Amino acid sequence: MKKVMRFSLVICILLVFSLIFLSSCNDRWPGTGPGIDLAAGSRKPEAPGDDLQNNIVNIAADTNLYYVLPEPETDGDVSVETALTIRRSHRSFQDKAISTEQLSQLLWASYGISSPEPGTPGWRQGTLRTAPSAGATYPLVVYAVTGNVEGIEPGVYRYDPDEHKIEQIMAGDIREELGKITFSSTNGTMISDAPVTVFYCAVFERTTGRYGERGRNYVFIELGHSAQNVYLQAEALGLGTCAIGAFTDDDAHKLLGLPSNEEPLYLLPVGYIK
Ligand SMILES: Cc1cc2nc3c(=O)[nH]c(=O)nc-3n(C[C@H](O)[C@H](O)[C@H](O)COP(=O)(O)O)c2cc1C
Repeated sequence: MKKVMRFSLVICILLVFSLIFLSSCNDRWPGTGPGIDLAAGSRKPEAPGDDLQNNIVNIAADTNLYYVLPEPETDGDVSVETALTIRRSHRSFQDKAISTEQLSQLLWASYGISSPEPGTPGWRQGTLRTAPSAGATYPLVVYAVTGNVEGIEPGVYRYDPDEHKIEQIMAGDIREELGKITFSSTNGTMISDAPVTVFYCAVFERTTGRYGERGRNYVFIELGHSAQNVYLQAEALGLGTCAIGAFTDDDAHKLLGLPSNEEPLYLLPVGYIK
């Protein structure tokens, strides 16, 4: 009888450990995430959790929808000189969808990885980006607020430069509401009409942690580098954009349900110009 009880106890302990192990696997690899690999045209499971390296809480776990974007092009028909010459702020957009390739290109230009090959120069090989960053601290967080992008459900997405993917943090078309947090109806209409708005936030501590208060200036300087990339890339794609600084930070924070350490900074609606 003792033997049977001991045997049952061992089985119970094994069962409990198996259950704990299985549930922890499930946390890491739910396998049910509706992630869509637009690059390969397939679905694959997502792994929600904190992105500790980038100090971002993975709020995408809310909906678990993400898209792996098509590979960005590193060559194009429009020269830098031409893009600089034709660049303007455009304030009215057609009701016309942009493609996932165009979205991919815009996000990559904003903050994408540009040295993915081992052996490229730089002390953080494979992690350097299209925009310079003080000490490669990369304080910016880039969101895409989409409403009319082919193959992408309307929503708010956080751009993950490492994987070149976008993770949904909010479902639904919020362009109209986002437009309302700006200071003028022109700004509002730009946002509600444009198929996508690139929305910049920053985690200042990433840079001030290394450079102290002076790091705050560096964040704004870096934002300029990144946003100019979006301007030039938009022109090169036959699209247009306009920088918007005139909006209420608190409203942006509330509307998007942003983490407390992220400060909203800049809005760039992008689309085909009228
Ligand atoms: C920091 C910053 C904030 C801006 N905010 C707005 C804005 O809220 N609304 C707007 O229509 N344009 C805004 N602009 C765009 C400027 O008005 C525009 O760059 C300027 O008129 C020069 O025109 P250009 O960009 O075509 O050369 C902003 C530009 C910068 C650099």
